Amino acid sequence: MAEAAPNPRLAAVRALNRVLPGSGDGASLREVLRAQALDGAAGGLMRDLCFGVCRYLRPLNHWLNQQLSKPLKPSAQPVRLALLCGLYELWFSDRADHAVVNAYPDLCRKLKAGWASGLANAVLRKASRIDAATAFADYPDAVRWSLPDWLWQQWQSDWPDQAAAMAEASLTPPPLTLRVNQRHHHRDHWLTQFGDEARAGALSPWALYLSPPRPVTALPGFAEGELTVQDEAAQLPVTLMAMPDGARVLDACAAPGGKTGQLAEAFPGARLVALDVSESRLRQVREALKRLDAEATVLQGDAADPQSWWDGEPFDAILLDAPCSATGILRRQPDVKWHRRRQDLPALVDLQARMLDALWPLLRPGGTLVYATCSVLRAENDQQISAFLERTEDATEDTPGIGAASPAARGWQLLPRDQGPDGFYLARLRKTMG
Ligand SMILES: C[S@@+](CC[C@H](N)C(=O)[O-])C[C@H]1O[C@@H](n2cnc3c(N)ncnc32)[C@H](O)[C@@H]1O
Repeated sequence: MAEAAPNPRLAAVRALNRVLPGSGDGASLREVLRAQALDGAAGGLMRDLCFGVCRYLRPLNHWLNQQLSKPLKPSAQPVRLALLCGLYELWFSDRADHAVVNAYPDLCRKLKAGWASGLANAVLRKASRIDAATAFADYPDAVRWSLPDWLWQQWQSDWPDQAAAMAEASLTPPPLTLRVNQRHHHRDHWLTQFGDEARAGALSPWALYLSPPRPVTALPGFAEGELTVQDEAAQLPVTLMAMPDGARVLDACAAPGGKTGQLAEAFPGARLVALDVSESRLRQVREALKRLDAEATVLQGDAADPQSWWDGEPFDAILLDAPCSATGILRRQPDVKWHRRRQDLPALVDLQARMLDALWPLLRPGGTLVYATCSVLRAENDQQISAFLERTEDATEDTPGIGAASPAARGWQLLPRDQGPDGFYLARLRKTMG
């Protein structure tokens, strides 16, 4: 007997149940989708529901709670998630309302919660008569922008003039951005190949935006390493690096290898060392290098404790793409906002500072260290770098201008923009010759 086709809505509820606070174990959405991917159109719908519900979780939950005469029990979390998927589909997808309204009572039965099918029908019918803007109109800002209170407060304190635009941009799906492998073709080659579907990035000379987005494995030249998926902002740290042939370069937090591959493309004559604390994530670095047909020494180790892995030969350049709050890439990883807590920040800031201090002595005098994060929190970025410069006598700031003026005191801060690069921070530091 032929197997029943997988139900993408059911798969989305199960995935969200693992990711979101409630009964879930706080797994990362990316990892869950990688492990439980569905093929074809079903996979597309499942992914859309998972990303959409994570993006709009707070206002969707708020509206749903207002409709309930008594709160749903914690054990009814799958029903709650199913209703949130239905609301997201009605308000943010172009699927026909009647098809959406009809799908969810049946889904409740599949979840062995037949008692909730009448509720699903009533809630979704009511929602189908309004739109999201009307539903969310009077909500407090943090609810409307779907941010935890602490993060919204921090954004307002760090970026009072930009916080609302950042919040809005963080709710939009990200563009598909590629990095062109300059060892094969110039970007113009790909602009001609993709025609009207591609545009060049304004900040990175290798960035290409493709619209509409599509599965990357179907792109010509992808398997051969001619194109790599990488946000334009994430391409910028390597554009700040310069070094002679044969230079020794450390990529200190390398996994999954996006920038390691880019370093290998940009500096084929360099002796590249890729370090990461996570052995399992280093597997992705090796795979990335293999696809690009590039080489590096791949090391497992703690960047804050070089004595355990360093061979004593100084580096001409270091890239420190530090672990951070990831608050600049919420549109790409919207589950992060529900996992990250205010109290996580001091430990991250402390780890970044310890890495800077520990790696600096490994740099040759005259060499440069590029510090980067995908955070938009000043404590991890310009405040972190200002403090480092204050306590490090032989360090000077040497960040070149990249584009429009940066709002940060030190280095460059990019804030998330609709259809543009992610939120990102970078600073280049030079060691004086002494
Ligand atoms: C922002 S990601 C790096 C992304 C990577 N540079 C890229 O472009 O694909 C941060 C990385 O830091 C690693 N990491 C965290 N703590 C570390 C430590 N103490 N030493 C070295 N790597 C660490 C994490 O495993 C993670 O892979």
